[in-house]
Amino acid sequence: MITLRLDLGERSYPIYIGSDILVSPACYLPHISGHHIALVTNQTLVSLYGEPVRKMLLDLGKQVTLIVLPDGEAFKTWHTLNEVFDQLLVAGADRATTLIALGGGVIGDMAGFAAACYMRGIAFIQVPTTLLAQVDSSVGGKTGINHPRGKNMIGAFYQPRAVIADMHVLTTLPRRELVAGLAEVIKHGVVADAAFFVWLENNIAALLRCQASALAYAVQRSCEIKAAIVMQDERESGLRAILNFGHTFGHAIEAGLGYGHWLHGEAVGCGMVMAAALSRRLGSIDEATYQRIHRLIQAAGLPVVAPAFTQARYFELMAVDKKNQEGALRFVLLSHLGLAYVGGAAHEIVAVTLDHAMQAPSALA
Ligand code: NAD
Ligand code: GLY
Repeated sequence: MITLRLDLGERSYPIYIGSDILVSPACYLPHISGHHIALVTNQTLVSLYGEPVRKMLLDLGKQVTLIVLPDGEAFKTWHTLNEVFDQLLVAGADRATTLIALGGGVIGDMAGFAAACYMRGIAFIQVPTTLLAQVDSSVGGKTGINHPRGKNMIGAFYQPRAVIADMHVLTTLPRRELVAGLAEVIKHGVVADAAFFVWLENNIAALLRCQASALAYAVQRSCEIKAAIVMQDERESGLRAILNFGHTFGHAIEAGLGYGHWLHGEAVGCGMVMAAALSRRLGSIDEATYQRIHRLIQAAGLPVVAPAFTQARYFELMAVDKKNQEGALRFVLLSHLGLAYVGGAAHEIVAVTLDHAMQAPSALA
């Protein structure tokens, strides 16, 4: 097992990465504040991993309230969140209760937000079970739910007490979910580490074969990159926004199709091709760099052709992006591989990028 540390003063916490650590008491005990634990998971994961985790906690003498939510992005809603509050209240959860989020990004975001709000904040631990959650959503303290008008629009920055990423749980992950997680892994290389991008170009086949050592390195390097950025800008007043590369387009795709039709990672994969194309049209990266990004995302098995909405619909959907300022759209753009910035783009350039992305973009020239 390796332990990374996300250093945020009194909100610092460890990220444990290893095999078969899901039921390792040593990873949990230092971060559990009281006697009562609310274990929040979903209908799929409860039968896979819920019981061993619950048993481990009971064996430690804890009282465990199991909260099982419906599975899927479509349930990352106010209604489901309220179900968590109802069950916490019925179980008599108090300020000493520790909430454990066992699941992918949907459970982690929603349970984390519940922990942030319940009695104005209770301790929580992230136990991410998807590749996407291990490399991205469990780290950094962004929690929240969707609104029909916009993705992740309601939420809070609220850091967990620990992140416990067991590589072994990835063996049951459906292939489509593995591929979706690779989008956020590739994102880290594109925006912050060109050497990691090259490593990904050379190891994408091994990752798709679920080779354990390749997956472990991808998780570790992604967490290191993300932690380094969050430590500099926890609340996204600047630098952290680069982690939204591809998300302006991606969130528009998710909201436009209806949450759950494309997986979040799929929308981000396609959105990254679009953001790279926009960077190319603005002249900030060259054609070869755009092609390498397009090629790696396609090789990962992610979509590279955007859904055919009208331009007007894309602009309407992007108008609720959290990066926008005073009504102006802002995008994460690339200066070169491994270096990103946030900037605007003329309406006509975005429009032509959208048109091209909805066909079958390869060369932009
Ligand atoms: P998800 O949580 O919906 O999980 C994907 C599917 O895999 C679900 O059906 C789940 O039940 C199943 N599953 C999970 N672990 C499994 C396992 N080990 N074996 C078998 N099946 C398993 O999706 P996700 O991709 O993990 O997360 C996407 C969400 O994360 C989105 O809502 C997105 O907005 C959010 N997100 C948040 C952040 C952040 O910083 N907070 C970052 C990126 C993404
Ligand atoms: N997933 C983007 C962020 O955490 O900032």
